[in-house]
Amino acid sequence: MTNFGNQVQFNVYQTMPSPDPDRLPIVYEEWEELAREVLEDGPYYYVAGGAGGEHTMKANLTAFDRWKIIPRMLRNVEIRDLTIELFGKTYNSPVMMAPIGVQSIIHPEGDLASAKASAALGIPFIASSASSAPMEQIANEMGDAPRWFQLYWNRDPDVTASFLKRAEASGYSAIVVTLDTPMMAWREYDLKNVYLPFLVGEGVGNYLTDPAFCSKLSKSPKEDPTEAIMHWTKTFGNPSLT
Ligand SMILES: Cc1cc2nc3c(=O)[nH]c(=O)nc-3n(C[C@H](O)[C@H](O)[C@H](O)COP(=O)(O)O)c2cc1C
Repeated sequence: MTNFGNQVQFNVYQTMPSPDPDRLPIVYEEWEELAREVLEDGPYYYVAGGAGGEHTMKANLTAFDRWKIIPRMLRNVEIRDLTIELFGKTYNSPVMMAPIGVQSIIHPEGDLASAKASAALGIPFIASSASSAPMEQIANEMGDAPRWFQLYWNRDPDVTASFLKRAEASGYSAIVVTLDTPMMAWREYDLKNVYLPFLVGEGVGNYLTDPAFCSKLSKSPKEDPTEAIMHWTKTFGNPSLT
């Protein structure tokens, strides 16, 4: 992992003077432009959009921009140690993959691909309760690589307990409890586009495979997906949908 940034750069420069015309973008804004070209309005704005008038989202970006790197001159930086210790474990760097649910709306491989990429880079992956693939399948892609599980506390305590047991059994070493989603946010773009991915069975991989969740249904999710999704809307802790 030492000098990984240099390695990436040399890999790019080595393609001089005839770079692959289909190579992936480098510039962050170009990724956004490309996503806009490829994705329909619904999925694109589900990711790009924020709540309300998006003032908080913009304020967060401004606040983040205020963070600066302080240069320290005339120090030996040949060998740098970015490792951190958290909960008795050492990690390569203080960077983790935030939990991002419903990833299948932007790419068919969804969480499985991003979990694999995190494992390859040694960056701890936080799997979302709302992942597209079930947590066990994500864990399978990662081998022994570090992973945590993000919990959306379910209205049904049996489901919450079952999620925690499954996470422990499949090697997630910490729980990240999300507390800021007691109800749906007022998301103008999603309302305008009439787009809520869960209602078409995206981002419910953990629920539809959960024994506690399925035990409350009259038929299996395969036999009656509509009943399963309706039950999900009632138990996700989402008063506005019930
Ligand atoms: C498309 C999308 C899906 C997300 N899904 C989840 C989720 O399932 N669980 C969760 O706790 N946070 C979720 N988040 C919130 C992120 O983990 C993160 O906290 C948030 O995006 C703020 O970080 P940022 O400013 O780098 O985007 C999601 C965010 C986005 C944009």
